Amino acid sequence: MKNHMTSVFHGVVDHAAFCSGLQTAINQVTSGGVFVGDNIFTFSRNLSFLDDEVLMSAFNKYAETDVEKSSLWRYSVLAWAAKRTMGLDGDLVECACYKGVSARIVADYVDLNATKKSIYLYDLFEHEDGMAHHDMPEHGENLYENVKKRFSGIQNAKITKGEVPQILHEIAPQNISFLHLDLNNVEAETAALEFFWDRVLPGGSIVFDDYGWLGYKRQQTAECAWLSERGYQALELPTGQGLVIK
Ligand SMILES: C[S@@+](CC[C@H](N)C(=O)[O-])C[C@H]1O[C@@H](n2cnc3c(N)ncnc32)[C@H](O)[C@@H]1O
Repeated sequence: MKNHMTSVFHGVVDHAAFCSGLQTAINQVTSGGVFVGDNIFTFSRNLSFLDDEVLMSAFNKYAETDVEKSSLWRYSVLAWAAKRTMGLDGDLVECACYKGVSARIVADYVDLNATKKSIYLYDLFEHEDGMAHHDMPEHGENLYENVKKRFSGIQNAKITKGEVPQILHEIAPQNISFLHLDLNNVEAETAALEFFWDRVLPGGSIVFDDYGWLGYKRQQTAECAWLSERGYQALELPTGQGLVIK
């Protein structure tokens, strides 16, 4: 049985003590099928995404940091959610893309260049004090160009620097098959949901990256209420993501 192990866990007091405890637990597992990282610990699981050669090839190419390597299960959810909509006549959207890692894995996984679809990516790419979202290590003046370089091999990548939701009024697709919301920002994310909802085609996938994370509880509360008013409920996944099939 294959395993996937990283030491990335968010929100622990003493990381060394936490990992030592986890190692003790892992040592008691006889079956394999162990996934460790991104606040997940499983064992005796098939972890079938590890046998998905297309996914693992893209993952091994683009996931570089420990945090990215720990996010494999999340990427597998995105890959599945995008691929299942490839028969729909709509585009792919990610708000927001940061380094473009999750979006590039998805683009390779669905072989975007072999389709007529476009992928629309948005981000501020930079961070200033006072902004609603937290800063991240690669925010800065080079990030926008670096993301454009990452997507240079994808013909229909539309990478836009700007603030969501305002920027969406300047450039956004009319028909969407796959929407990934990952803004770490309740106001921006609910505004993006409001903007895009009617454009997501019936059968389209919507993935909320922050939906199940306690640190983003306000996002879940707001999105849950917003969806409920329209007769929908997101499925909270063990990865911390939320999933809606429209
Ligand atoms: C967690 S990162 C996205 C990671 C990316 N989806 C991935 O998995 O590779 C969140 C991003 O949201 C962006 N962001 C937050 N609020 C925003 C807003 N109002 N408009 C545009 N981007 C925003 C931040 O700049 C940050 O890069």
